[in-house]
Amino acid sequence: MIERSGVSAAMSRAEALAWLAETFDRAGLEEPGREARLALCEAGGLRASALIASPEAALGEPAASRLADLAARRAAGEPLSKIAGRREFWGLTLIVSPDVLDPRPETETLIETALKLIGARRRARLRILDLGVGSGAILCALLTECPAALGLGVDASPAAVAIASRNVEACGLAARAEIRLGSWTQGVEGPFDLIVSNPPYIRSADIEALQREVRDFDPRLALDGGADGLDAYRAILPASVGLLAPGGRLIVEVGAGQGGDVLGLAARLGFVHGETRRDLAGIERVVIGERPA
Ligand SMILES: C[S@@+](CC[C@H](N)C(=O)[O-])C[C@H]1O[C@@H](n2cnc3c(N)ncnc32)[C@H](O)[C@@H]1O
Repeated sequence: MIERSGVSAAMSRAEALAWLAETFDRAGLEEPGREARLALCEAGGLRASALIASPEAALGEPAASRLADLAARRAAGEPLSKIAGRREFWGLTLIVSPDVLDPRPETETLIETALKLIGARRRARLRILDLGVGSGAILCALLTECPAALGLGVDASPAAVAIASRNVEACGLAARAEIRLGSWTQGVEGPFDLIVSNPPYIRSADIEALQREVRDFDPRLALDGGADGLDAYRAILPASVGLLAPGGRLIVEVGAGQGGDVLGLAARLGFVHGETRRDLAGIERVVIGERPA
């Protein structure tokens, strides 16, 4: 029988849950009970209902070995999504790795905003550009919702380009999407009906103080927005004006407190109908601008 770090194949699911919750509590995780349930389901390939229906069932192998490894990694701060190699976003199951930002629930605010603005044009042959495509979360969500749209995703990280390409393929979108290595809009030709971006927007000096799940497990290139957090907007916004079709929209995610600055930058560059949208926590999360028709 394998016995490692307090886990054994003979242990029941209920015993494993209690051990995990205690381990995660000691490691300082915010929701140790919830995390324990998720970890056990992942290691054992179980649904949550199986934990309730048969708590006395033995873990067995390979679940016990997997659980020992998973518990050690999660207790060290690695997010469960990165351990499992996948993350749910907008109803899609996406591949994630250490090379890409773990897609965040608040980024769904950008998707909702885009879809509201697209409105009745959802079935049109829209041209969409995603700058800093990362895992491909935004592009995959928008192309799934807009069945005739064409998308280009750009990223400066070769590893992110590889992951986004796999996600586009896995979501059945490869025929309508191109994923390209590059720096922002360099070499990109328009026009686009929609330009979207969730760029790095954390101030360099704030990175050290981030949660370890983010600081140690999301790539620095995906986080660091320079001294004031706004470097990427100063690169993306001026270039986007000329790449949008008349009446085309720019929709960018912003960090808490950055909405006013990014809105002001957009107005100075000639974008009209500038607006912001809040996420579920009430934080200004998205800035919209329109190229004059
Ligand atoms: C915050 S992540 C967003 C990833 C993904 N779009 C999402 O929302 O989950 C920002 C992305 O911008 C990329 N990036 C950083 N600098 C870049 C640049 N100069 N040109 C293109 N992409 C860049 C990073 O590699 C990272 O994938």
